[in-house]
Amino acid sequence: MSLTLEQLKGSFKENGYICSESTALTVYLAIELKKPLLIEGLPGVGKTEMGKVLARILQTELIRLQCYEGLDEAKALYEWNYQKQLLRIQLNRNLEKEQIREEDLFSREYLLERPLLKAIQADERVVLLIDEVDKCDPEFEAFLFEALSDYQVSVPELGTITAKNIPVVVLTSNSDRELSDGLKRRCLYLFLDFPTLEEETLIIQSKVPKINAMLARDIAIIAANMRSQPNIRKKPSVAESIDWAESLVSLHKSTLDSDLVAATLNLVLKNRNDQKLFHDSFKPEDLDKILRKGRFNGGLKNCP
Ligand SMILES: Nc1ncnc2c1ncn2[C@@H]1O[C@H](COP(=O)(O)OP(=O)(O)OP(=O)(O)O)[C@@H](O)[C@H]1O
Ligand SMILES: [Mg+2]
Repeated sequence: MSLTLEQLKGSFKENGYICSESTALTVYLAIELKKPLLIEGLPGVGKTEMGKVLARILQTELIRLQCYEGLDEAKALYEWNYQKQLLRIQLNRNLEKEQIREEDLFSREYLLERPLLKAIQADERVVLLIDEVDKCDPEFEAFLFEALSDYQVSVPELGTITAKNIPVVVLTSNSDRELSDGLKRRCLYLFLDFPTLEEETLIIQSKVPKINAMLARDIAIIAANMRSQPNIRKKPSVAESIDWAESLVSLHKSTLDSDLVAATLNLVLKNRNDQKLFHDSFKPEDLDKILRKGRFNGGLKNCP
């Protein structure tokens, strides 16, 4: 499925994925140029969601490779199905058939395709999400870099397998460690920052449709304020704002105020010291002032 830039932007909106013009442009180019897209950014800013939403937009399968320490080619690319091979040998023996030949045992029938192989073998262009690539070992990263260079893999017993379709590849990283220049060179690079107030309000509204517009804005205001406090260690992610919004809606709230923030602080600040710090830094009247100012700036002028 091929899309123009304008169609891509519209599809992001339709699918509730809120992003800037420059983000949409980078994604568009990655799809057009058939280059992997490397997304870095803080937790919860929508990196993984980008892979998921692209699969929905392109109406194709999402194949996910979750990276972790110790991930190797066998788990990422292919493995031989030893149990099935053994069973075949046993069966032949029991039926007193002639012994199965080695090349028959190492054929496609006994190959377990893992995400990378699945993605390049798919009959249509799929989305391959290589999630949290910074968690894998540098050796695996080097292997990935090779695989993403020419989209072909070599299986000694079968020969070289070349991609039927080059997948749309989305790699995500939390920057736990610096990725190699080689991998970065292969990719188009996107850094996702925390959303702006307007963007976060829209994200909350799209994920929690029942929410009152003012409450969505209030949550975005307080979340942005918490993130701007240098001493807060675990800054709230967008996912936490969404959880907070869902909780407040289920409590039938339509705006925030200092008392409600204090009563539900644990839903958004998940560190005891951060809670204390926030509590000590803001008097209730300060919080109410911040909320009023944020609403006014957001065009919500008829507000308390
Ligand atoms: N721009 C956005 N538009 C719509 N939803 C978003 C956006 N950013 C974040 N979200 C929502 O926030 C939640 C967290 O997003 P996601 O899992 O993609 O974060 P992440 O960047 O992959 O975080 P982590 O680094 O912790 O894996 C999801 O529910 C997602 O829908
Ligand atoms: Mg993620």
